[in-house]
Amino acid sequence: MSNIKACIFDLDGVIVDTAVYHYKAWRRLANSLGFDFSEHQNEQLKGVSRVRSLQLILGWGGVTKTEAEQEQLATQKNIWYTDMINQMTPAEILPGAREFVESCRDAGLKTALGSASKNSMTILDKLNITHLFDAIIDGNKVSKAKPDPEVFLKGAEELGIEPQYCVVFEDAIAGVEAAKAGGMKAIGIGDPETLHEADLVVSGLNKVTVEELEMLP
Ligand code: BG6
Ligand code: MG
Repeated sequence: MSNIKACIFDLDGVIVDTAVYHYKAWRRLANSLGFDFSEHQNEQLKGVSRVRSLQLILGWGGVTKTEAEQEQLATQKNIWYTDMINQMTPAEILPGAREFVESCRDAGLKTALGSASKNSMTILDKLNITHLFDAIIDGNKVSKAKPDPEVFLKGAEELGIEPQYCVVFEDAIAGVEAAKAGGMKAIGIGDPETLHEADLVVSGLNKVTVEELEMLP
């Protein structure tokens, strides 16, 4: 029998591809400041908090802003971002994601969300999947960003399951590192080379089964 008792899911890039909306909103902000950044650079923002993302982007543009100005800019970006995510529908759930979470629950596993995003509740609501999670830990509930394990440890605690019985699903390097730092197993969603610290890497939740969780090292 598997010793996995709980699955903890990252949101952006695992359940839904919000990276495109983050990119559009950040790019609009960068453009308003007179510069641009590439899709390749955008990769570095995955799993990174809003404030830290802004600091990276300002660095790429060689722009310096005070803390108060940074706060204003992050707020503006979030207004543009939430305008887009408010239009989302359940059709935007990544292939197999809903089915996989459901199959975990059917197999008696607990499920939690562990995301850096402060917009997690809006997204889950738009996708109509809030009820699929026994615990939801989002950017509003944590003080330390991934790769700190806080978000996942809080999830495990709320589920009442010890970390070694949890498996985390993550698309970001920092997220895989956070899971490992928390003493959990990690399944990477994306490129095996990039996510080599994970115990298993698949291209999406449509490419993994509950049975495979029993075979994790
Ligand atoms: C992560 C995303 O899930 O959430 C990052 O991968 C994003 O790109 C971070 O910056 C914070 O999101 P939000 O919605 O609180 O700005
Ligand atoms: Mg992610």
